Amino acid sequence: MFRSILMFGTAAAVLAVTVPLEPTFYRDIVPILEKRCYECHRPGGSAMSLATYRDAKRWARPMREVVLANRMPPQPPQGLFRHLQDAQGLTREEIQTIVRWVDTGAKEGDPNEAPPPQIVAHL
Ligand code: HEC
Repeated sequence: MFRSILMFGTAAAVLAVTVPLEPTFYRDIVPILEKRCYECHRPGGSAMSLATYRDAKRWARPMREVVLANRMPPQPPQGLFRHLQDAQGLTREEIQTIVRWVDTGAKEGDPNEAPPPQIVAHL
């Protein structure tokens, strides 16, 4: 699979992450959403569904925004739950995969490439 390397430079460190060159919904985005978002963003969940390609495509630009701004998944208040907060945040790789998916046209891809079990199969 082709992957591109995105570099992040800070004063302290340079971090490299690899993300798919042209991510697709089923292959690259569903696994992230399952792990990080479907707890709330599913039919009957506490927030709007991102379960189908149609849903996610409609929300693609806001998704890009909220993951870049670290607004989703929602973080618990600081203090006691700090460690929990670290555990729940998206990795750089996950964030950049979503960003790149949106920037390359939020492609659907092949449903057969979605990881089983997957919520989109039950709709
Ligand atoms: C713990 C529940 C929960 C999780 C997990 C969660 N969200 Fe949300 N999300 C919400 C709720 C509730 C809203 C409704 C608006 C609000 O309250 O901010 C929302 C709103 C949104 C919006 C609408 C824009 C906005 O600012 O309101 C987007 C886009 C979004 N979520 C994307 C995501 C993505 C992508 C993930 C996974 C990386 C995710 N969310 C994980 C609960 C969640």
